[in-house]
Amino acid sequence: KMNADELEERINKVKRSMGRKLFLPGHHYQKDEVIQFADARGDSLKLAQLSASQHEAEAIVFCGVHFMAETADILSTEDQHVYLPDMRAGCSMADMANITQTEKAWQQLFDIFDDTILPLTYVNSTAAIKAFVGKNGGATVTSSNAAKMIQWAFSQKQRILFLPDQHLGRNTAYDLGIPLDQMAVWDPIMEELIHEGSIEDVKVILWKGHCSVHENFTVRNVQQVRADYPDMKIIVHPECSREVVELSDVAGSTNAIISAIDQAPAGSSWAVGTEMNLVNRIIHENPDQHIISLNPSMCPCLTMNRIDLQHLAWSLESLAAGEPTNLIKVDAGIAHDAKQALTRMLYRA
Ligand code: 13P
Ligand code: SF4
Repeated sequence: KMNADELEERINKVKRSMGRKLFLPGHHYQKDEVIQFADARGDSLKLAQLSASQHEAEAIVFCGVHFMAETADILSTEDQHVYLPDMRAGCSMADMANITQTEKAWQQLFDIFDDTILPLTYVNSTAAIKAFVGKNGGATVTSSNAAKMIQWAFSQKQRILFLPDQHLGRNTAYDLGIPLDQMAVWDPIMEELIHEGSIEDVKVILWKGHCSVHENFTVRNVQQVRADYPDMKIIVHPECSREVVELSDVAGSTNAIISAIDQAPAGSSWAVGTEMNLVNRIIHENPDQHIISLNPSMCPCLTMNRIDLQHLAWSLESLAAGEPTNLIKVDAGIAHDAKQALTRMLYRA
């Protein structure tokens, strides 16, 4: 097994030789050993915008997960190529909505509601889902602009279908004043609509998907923190369940979490409900505050963690040798439609 110093030197060597021809974006959930090499660090919205503006970069080696690399490919030019250091770096949430299920759902929802629905999808989805949404007049959203985008959607149609994260959809719609009994859940496995109130009143249809990392923050974790540290503020990502968000003090995207803690005075104390690598980084970068994970066992995103020094070194060296591996290339037709969904968001974000 290669030691870390050696791998770091190999990575630096390629970075030096390629200069600005290489762009290396890193998502906040990436390991420290990878993030140290990132040319830009950000949440999914920032990384999507940055990828679109790297005109000098010929190669974008994306340190994040598959859907983010697809988005970078869609937004970059023909001459730019996007690589993912480990093809197994997927996202279990994005995998919860496939295009066949979505087309079936759309047909059935049309039978119930006619042409009154606009589809929206969290960027944590495959390019095919983004293309479906784009073709049907809808847009993508991220956790930092979901409220703005849902409001926009209601200026277009009476109802929305929100893919694939029911929690981000529910939490955001609830904050906009939509009562829970006007939200229904589409179950793609059972192919049925689950609702409590009357069906005509349904305004938001939530796809039954979730993040397997954020679902590990529970009401019990909140109760434990409240009991152990009565003065501690609880801040969570909106991919957490409605119940957890309800009982927390603040909910926000990764960027919102970082800036809330950055701006807090020394001596503040926080329990943070988001991915482990980011929580650890926030702890190290704010030594004057008391910060813990909302779930004491810490919650890693296993697929984000697949990108490590070894994969990064291998990926960069294959690129430098002129034999690049793990190219992410979205089919041209899908990219065209998906870009419409992304552009509708970027234009308003
Ligand atoms: P943001 O980066 O948009 O906050 O999303 C978090 C996430 O789960 C990325 O996969
Ligand atoms: Fe997907 Fe959740 Fe991991 Fe984000 S944290 S990449 S939503 S599984």
